[in-house]
Amino acid sequence: MDKIAVLDFGGQYAHLIANRIRRLGTYSEIRDCDTPADSLKEYKGLILSGGPQSVYDEGSPKCDAKIFNLGIPVLGICYGLHIMVHSLGGKVLPGKIKEYGKTTLNILNKNDIFNGLADAETVWMSHGDEAAGLPEGFEKTASTESCLHAGLANFSKKLYAIQFHPEVTHTLNGNKILENFLNVCGAKKEWNLDFFIEKEIGAVKDKVGDKKVFMLISGGVDSTVAYSLIQKAIGTKNAYGLFVDTGFIRLHEREEVEEAYNKAGIENVHFFYAGDKFFEGVKEVYDPETKRKIIGDKFLEIQKIVADDLNLNPDEWLLGQGTIYPDTIETGGTRHADKIKTHHNRVEQIQKLIEAGKIIEPLTQLYKDEVREVGEKIGLPENIVWRHPFPGPGLAVRCLCTQNPDYPENYEKLEKDINDFISKYNLTGKILPIKSVGVQGDARTYRHPFVLSMHKDTNRNWDMLETVSTEITNRFANINRVLLMLHPRGIVSMKVKPGYLSKDRIELLQKADFRVTQFIKYHKIYKDIWQFPTVLLPLSLNDKNGECIVLRPVNSEEAMTANFYRMEWKWVEQLTESFSELSEIDGVFYDITNKPPATIEWE
Ligand code: XMP
Repeated sequence: MDKIAVLDFGGQYAHLIANRIRRLGTYSEIRDCDTPADSLKEYKGLILSGGPQSVYDEGSPKCDAKIFNLGIPVLGICYGLHIMVHSLGGKVLPGKIKEYGKTTLNILNKNDIFNGLADAETVWMSHGDEAAGLPEGFEKTASTESCLHAGLANFSKKLYAIQFHPEVTHTLNGNKILENFLNVCGAKKEWNLDFFIEKEIGAVKDKVGDKKVFMLISGGVDSTVAYSLIQKAIGTKNAYGLFVDTGFIRLHEREEVEEAYNKAGIENVHFFYAGDKFFEGVKEVYDPETKRKIIGDKFLEIQKIVADDLNLNPDEWLLGQGTIYPDTIETGGTRHADKIKTHHNRVEQIQKLIEAGKIIEPLTQLYKDEVREVGEKIGLPENIVWRHPFPGPGLAVRCLCTQNPDYPENYEKLEKDINDFISKYNLTGKILPIKSVGVQGDARTYRHPFVLSMHKDTNRNWDMLETVSTEITNRFANINRVLLMLHPRGIVSMKVKPGYLSKDRIELLQKADFRVTQFIKYHKIYKDIWQFPTVLLPLSLNDKNGECIVLRPVNSEEAMTANFYRMEWKWVEQLTESFSELSEIDGVFYDITNKPPATIEWE
């Protein structure tokens, strides 16, 4: 089979490039960035990924410079552009501004990879450095307002480089660029998901052998598809599925999952309540990463308790997981990648079990969109395949915890600078004294949200709000999230209400989350939205003693990038209004940040 290698320099999207190439029908795999050129001769083309570092950083990832003389077409993306330029004698320097977000690309030469594109295209950037001087034989093929060399090529050697990311959906014609590259490579289209299913069922059979599989399942699409594939490979009786009620699941979730599995005919699934143990484990814990680690470890503890109760011999059982690719990459699970957040199925204890060959994970190479397609192909019902994703740690990562107010340095000046900047939009705003997780330029951030208030007479307009949100997060380094205040109209006073993951806070969040889910189902917009976290913030407003919630609906294909969802304003109003019945809720915000710079979840 013709294949393409993606050399991984640690970018958050390295694997997504491979996914896109496979989706275009050509088999593609990830190789280490410093794989010797001699071992890459079998590929029809090479793609150099992005990465979190600068080529001048000490120890930054390098490649074998001989790859540029193999006579195989090479496409460098972002850091891949920098490394190509740097290796071939050009110059890379920090750009005028760090750029994260959509921009317009002006194409100057439409040969090869830009074939069939318009003169101006919307593309998506996430970078600090840029090419300042070109290597010999290269010419500029595209630029943007703030990046002179956004596209480069040495046409005679078939070497191409682009500063933006064609693999993310925000680059509207990104797939066309990748397809053009495959054409330049002369790569045949011979790969599809049926091929994957067949191969994976065989691989599970081989790996499990005469053992059995114990698996934690959540009712979500990843674990259900993984469990079904495992059962197809080794038989229903040889796989034991366990749904753990962590206490952080949604209202009525257990009953819903039980019903869905019964209807779908998924067998050998058992239910176990462990809420008290989870609450005890995270008592008085405030830091997001610590919470995530404790919860990941608790899952393993529960699995062990149940296995012991059943008298299972650990030598005869493997542990199954529905891990998908973003779980690995965000945990910093590839050699040069930065850690964004530890996913519950990637804690240290699990890494050790993986090394010991005790874990079976059929979906680790796939993204959510591919998992859903596999789910459909193996006959799972729509309500499971299209269920909104819900993270393993559940509401625990949607309930922010804090002991003290946390403001950035010089916050009064920063707040004033941002207010000066947004006054042209007739908006004002405040920095919140808490932090949330984000991802910028392939690296983790843990920074402050900024909440915008609109004057009564300002026109509500999602385009304008997206522009403001992108500008604020690009310009002000301490801000990685922007919110719109829905209720009340303005903040007169705000104070932190210290809190950890207590039962009463989770119950309040469950009520709020249930309200949101019922609302979007009733108004038939559930399917238009990819995922809708409702987040509880430990903040009281205007001399009250309650807390605030954030509505975080997003659209995405694979969770690596996401856009905030633009809800019709009449629904926004009705949903906000419905919270006035919950006296414990002082304020309602709408998250208007894309991913990056924010992540979908807040922690
Ligand atoms: P972020 O917040 O990083 O999330 O944009 C990307 C996707 O991953 C889900 N997520 C998790 N899923 N265990 C999971 O099974 C986890 O620990 C976890 N953390 C985040 C998140 O809900 C989103 O769909």
